[in-house]
Parts: sequence; structure tokens; C-alpha cells
Amino acid sequence: MSLLEFYFHLLTVIFEIMGKSYPAVSDEYMKAVDEAKRKLRDLFTEQNCAPLMLRMAFHSAGTFDVNSKTGGPFGTMRQKAEQAHGPNVGLDTAINLLEPVKQELPIISYADFYMLAGIVAVETTGGPNIPFHPGRQDKDEPPADGRLPLPNQGSDQLRAIFINTMGLNDQDIVALSGGHTLGSCHRDRSGIEGSWTRNPLTFDNSYFKELLAGEKEGLVQLPTDKALLEDPVFRPLVENFALDQDAFFGAYAESFMKLSELGFADA
Ligand code: HEM
Repeated sequence: MSLLEFYFHLLTVIFEIMGKSYPAVSDEYMKAVDEAKRKLRDLFTEQNCAPLMLRMAFHSAGTFDVNSKTGGPFGTMRQKAEQAHGPNVGLDTAINLLEPVKQELPIISYADFYMLAGIVAVETTGGPNIPFHPGRQDKDEPPADGRLPLPNQGSDQLRAIFINTMGLNDQDIVALSGGHTLGSCHRDRSGIEGSWTRNPLTFDNSYFKELLAGEKEGLVQLPTDKALLEDPVFRPLVENFALDQDAFFGAYAESFMKLSELGFADA
């Protein structure tokens, strides 16, 4: 077992102790998960669409409300009604790209499949391996619109959404924001144009380096990104992740696993 594998094993054990009780799935299901990973890797490499897939996975899981236990990573993004929510502009493209692969693997739930897409997006672009536990069941009811963060806000909004509504913590906010190391803003989607880093198809810690370096011609920083610099709790985490990519990868794997399991397997 490598050190990294040991770390993930440890994480899994900690989660089990914290009250996650993962459902058992059949061998056939596990085989389909492996097959899905292979097919998703090929698709993302062929289409260069890993960033869009990561955004889709975040927007699927990020609607979870710990208070009402509604929303979250339960496959509802397959529905046009949720794709039509303001922050989800363009995610129909992600869902349409995924659908032929999903059709080939009918045994897998949409819920598992979309979270797997987010995990494979990070892995295929050079990021950390993220533990994946299968067994999410699809829900039919899409969450209410208005739960996802808006880009023109500060740290209060981030905490209100990530901590009070989703049930995550400060470190999760900073680590997950590092997802913007992948991809770009598109004028026809968000009205904003440009990437956060010069290598938007590589998952590394350059998002944090660019954030600390300040605004530059051709790169973007949203108000929600800049909020990480101004906040006394967030900033030291940004500085640490900019200096130490392993620290970022470890934190990202932990936080993304938590995100992908919101409302799932709670004992
Ligand atoms: C913290 C609050 C967040 C806000 C306000 C926010 C907002 C945005 C906006 C406005 C875009 C541009 C969409 C477009 O024009 O195509 C975007 C893209 C993206 N977001 Fe976020 N985001 C946040 C957090 C996250 C998180 C936590 C992740 C992943 C864990 C993530 C992953 C991405 C990715 C990968 C893209 C690029 C998509 C592409 O290239 O097509 N974002 N985000």
C-alpha cells in the first residue's frame, strides 16, 4: 500500500467512524463502476470536457441542504428543470455527453454516475485520486433553484452556503474552490470570459498561486475567489495550498469525497 493509498484508507475508516454506513452493492455493479471509469476517462480525453464535468458534479451535489435533507448528489441534474437553473447554464452539454455512456451501463444510478464523472475529471487531468463509494439512489424531485453560490459575493455567502446549508467547513470551502484550477468562464454561459490559470486542463495548485499573485491580463478571479484572500481563516489555507501541492491534493480529495456524499450513507 502506497502512502497515498494508506491516506485514503484512513479517510474511509474515519468516515465510517463518523457515521457513514455505505450500502453493499453487487459485484456486477462494481464491474460497471470500473467500466464507467474507463469510458469516462476516454470521453473526457477525447472531448477535453473534464472541467465542465467537474462543474456539473459540483452543481449536482452542491444543492444539498442539511436542514431539510433535500437536494444533493442524487442524479436530479438529469432533469431539464434543474439544468434550467440560472447557475447551471451549459450543463445540459455535460449531461448530453454523458448520456450515451450511461445508456451502456444501465445498472449504475445517475447519482453515482455523475459523482464518478467529477472524480474521473480530476483524476484524468492529473489531480488526486478521490475515494468513491457506490450505492446512491436516484431521486426524482430536483432541488429548489437558488441554492448554488453566485460569483459576485463575499465570504459570508460562501459560509452561508457551504457551512450552514451544505454542512461542510472552512477548509472544504478553500480546497473545493481549487476546482477552478480547471476550466474557464464562458461569455455565453456566465457572462464572464477567461480561465483562472494558464493550464486549465491540468489539475494542480496553480489556482492558488495565481490567486496570490493578483490579477493578470487574460486570467479571471471572481469576487468569490478573491474573498478567499481577504478572509483571515481562508487566506492561510490559500497560502499553504499554493506552497504545498500535496497538502492541496490531500485536502481536495477529502473535501470532494464529503461533497459527493452529502446526504448519502448517513447512519
Ligand atoms: C465557491 C463558489 C463558486 C462559484 C461562485 C463558482 C462560479 C463559477 C462560474 C461563474 C463559472 C463559469 C461558468 C462558465 O461561464 O462556463 C465556474 C466554472 C467552473 N467551476 Fe465554479 N464556482 C464555485 C465553486 C466551484 C467548485 C467548488 C468547483 C469544483 C469543486 C467548481 C468548478 C468549476 C469548474 C471546473 C469550472 C469550469 C467549467 C468549464 O470550463 O466549463 N466551482 N464556476
